[in-house]
Amino acid sequence: MHHSEQPAKQAMPMLVLLPLLLLCYGVGNVHCSKVHDSSIDLQALLDFKHGITIDPNGALNNWTMRSHFCHWNGVECTLEQPRRVRGLQLTSQSLSGQISSSLGNLTFLNYLDLSYNNFVGPLPLLGRLQQLHILFLYNNSLSGIIPDALTNCSNLTAIDLSSNLLVGSIPPKLGLLSNLGYLNLMSNQLNGSIPGELGQLNLKTLILGDNRLSGEIPQAFFRLSSLQYLNLESNMLSKALPPNIGKLLPHLVEFTLENNMFEGSIPDSLGNNALGLTKIDLSYINFTGRIPTSLGKLSNLTFLNLEDNQLVARNNQDWEFLNALRNCRSLEVFSLSYNELQGSLPQSISNLPTSLQVLLLGGNSLSGQVPHSIGKLSALTWLGLGENNFSGTIEGWIENLKSLGRLSLQSNNFTGPIPSSISNLTRLVKLLLSKNEFDGSIPASLGNLRQLLWLDLSYNNFQGSIPANFGKLEQLVSFQT
Ligand SMILES: *[C@@H]1O[C@H](CO)[C@@H](O)[C@H](O)[C@H]1NC(C)=O
Ligand SMILES: *[C@@H]1O[C@H](CO)[C@@H](O)[C@H](O)[C@H]1NC(C)=O
Ligand SMILES: *[C@@H]1O[C@H](CO)[C@@H](O)[C@H](O)[C@H]1NC(C)=O
Ligand SMILES: *[C@@H]1O[C@H](CO)[C@@H](O)[C@H](O)[C@H]1NC(C)=O
Ligand SMILES: *[C@@H]1O[C@H](CO)[C@@H](O)[C@H](O)[C@H]1NC(C)=O
Ligand SMILES: *[C@@H]1O[C@H](CO)[C@@H](O)[C@H](O)[C@H]1NC(C)=O
Ligand SMILES: *[C@@H]1O[C@H](CO)[C@@H](O)[C@H](O)[C@H]1NC(C)=O
Ligand SMILES: *[C@@H]1O[C@H](CO)[C@@H](O)[C@H](O)[C@H]1NC(C)=O
Ligand SMILES: *[C@@H]1O[C@H](CO)[C@@H](O)[C@H](O)[C@H]1NC(C)=O
Ligand SMILES: *[C@@H]1O[C@H](CO)[C@@H](O)[C@H](O)[C@H]1NC(C)=O
Ligand SMILES: *[C@@H]1O[C@H](CO)[C@@H](O)[C@H](O)[C@H]1NC(C)=O
Repeated sequence: MHHSEQPAKQAMPMLVLLPLLLLCYGVGNVHCSKVHDSSIDLQALLDFKHGITIDPNGALNNWTMRSHFCHWNGVECTLEQPRRVRGLQLTSQSLSGQISSSLGNLTFLNYLDLSYNNFVGPLPLLGRLQQLHILFLYNNSLSGIIPDALTNCSNLTAIDLSSNLLVGSIPPKLGLLSNLGYLNLMSNQLNGSIPGELGQLNLKTLILGDNRLSGEIPQAFFRLSSLQYLNLESNMLSKALPPNIGKLLPHLVEFTLENNMFEGSIPDSLGNNALGLTKIDLSYINFTGRIPTSLGKLSNLTFLNLEDNQLVARNNQDWEFLNALRNCRSLEVFSLSYNELQGSLPQSISNLPTSLQVLLLGGNSLSGQVPHSIGKLSALTWLGLGENNFSGTIEGWIENLKSLGRLSLQSNNFTGPIPSSISNLTRLVKLLLSKNEFDGSIPASLGNLRQLLWLDLSYNNFQGSIPANFGKLEQLVSFQT
């Protein structure tokens, strides 16, 4: 029994088969040799249906013998006779139960997508599915390990098992899936180290974030030279990154390592060699040293999060990155919160690209006046300068930041009154000024900020009473003085 690849040769066998098919049609226990393979598929689908305990949307209501299985909801078949199941896609149906391993009998299966359901139990055994290209079982409650047998499906190009309850380690044998371009195992409970064997693949996307992976990333892993999207966030990975990581992974577009235990400094090679980077998240890691000026070569960079590290800036040379980043004309989000930036904020802060929308420098040891030139960053919607030692007044720059929605200046040493021009910042939603040395009266013009939801003026030296027009702030949910 073979099916022909060429449409021209197809017509004849189809005509011959038709009467046979009609004879066998709809009969559960088929003894008709011509459609034998087809009956295996029928049995596999019935077994799969049998494994489903809850089907609240009636997704399988028309899986009955009244119609051929090729017409059942979610089933796609080959066009050639005998028709075989080519695809099974039932997503977001709140289906519960176990996924029957009889799906492993659907030897013509090309794609299997059962994502966004409530399936439980182990992954089905699919080792015989040589034609399987796509395996999407994400957002279920599947448990147990990832079986080695999966690596028998040598035609797999994309695997997404994210958001399940899988345990154990990542099988090194996944390195045998030579056609695999997309692997997403995010948000499971996988442990052990990342196998170097993955370096044998031609992956474009590798997402292993939010697991329990630990140890050093093996050198062999970095042979993944086609990699564009790498996400290893929220694991327990340690040791330094290779200094030449940018050279090894030159096609990186998104690089997310946040919340791990790497050590050492941020490799210069990221900026020197991975020139297509648009997103870098190296927050909450404990990197030390300077912020590399090479990052300024990343002309497509939109997101740079270096929060919660031990990065230092003490002298002009350390602050050079501010000048360098002026070339990142698409930069929208830049955070250096909770690092070891010291001394006064350089005038060159205004060299950051005017595309910048979020600038977070809170939780450092910055002191002195905030340079008025910061007012040139007129696209800022969120400015965080809290928990530093800034002093002086805030007049002369805040009134120019007309797009601001959030302004955090709490826990500094700012002085003087709140300028009445603050009322020009009509998009303000959150204004945190607590724990400073502000004085004078609370300007009535604050009452004009109709979008304000959070206002904290506590622990300052304000005099007088709360202006009557604060009653106009209908939206306000939190107000502390
Ligand atoms: C079964 O349901 C699907 C989805 O509603 C529909 O596309 C298909 O035509 C139905 N098949 C039959 C035989 O009613
Ligand atoms: C189909 O798969 C099931 C479960 O893996 C197995 O027990 C059964 O023998 C298979 N049936 C056929 C006809 O291959
Ligand atoms: C792997 O595939 C071969 C056919 O190529 C098959 O004989 C074997 O049983 C499969 N192994 C598993 C574990 O499914
Ligand atoms: C991969 O699939 C193609 C058809 O899509 C098939 O010709 C080939 O035999 C499969 N590879 C293997 C190893 O079975
Ligand atoms: C998918 O799973 C993730 C993690 O458990 C969860 O945050 C997300 O809301 C889920 N998505 C849907 C559509 O259920
Ligand atoms: C991984 O977790 C399993 C339990 O799921 C445990 O038996 C095993 O020792 C762990 N391995 C490592 C390397 O931590
Ligand atoms: C970062 O370093 C601090 C101080 O050395 C330490 O307390 C903390 O546990 C480290 N965090 C991580 C994620 O390694
Ligand atoms: C920047 O993005 C554009 C548009 O996506 C792309 O054509 C260009 O190659 C990218 N630049 C680099 C250096 O990768
Ligand atoms: C702020 O400055 C004071 C006095 O110079 C100093 O004692 C304090 O440690 C500084 N605080 C921070 C967060 O740098
Ligand atoms: C706050 O600034 C004043 C001068 O404006 C200075 O006398 C005082 O020491 C500063 N306090 C801290 C904690 O830095
Ligand atoms: C603030 O708005 C007022 C009008 O409401 C205008 O007269 C004033 O020049 C504005 N201030 C700044 C700094 O733009």
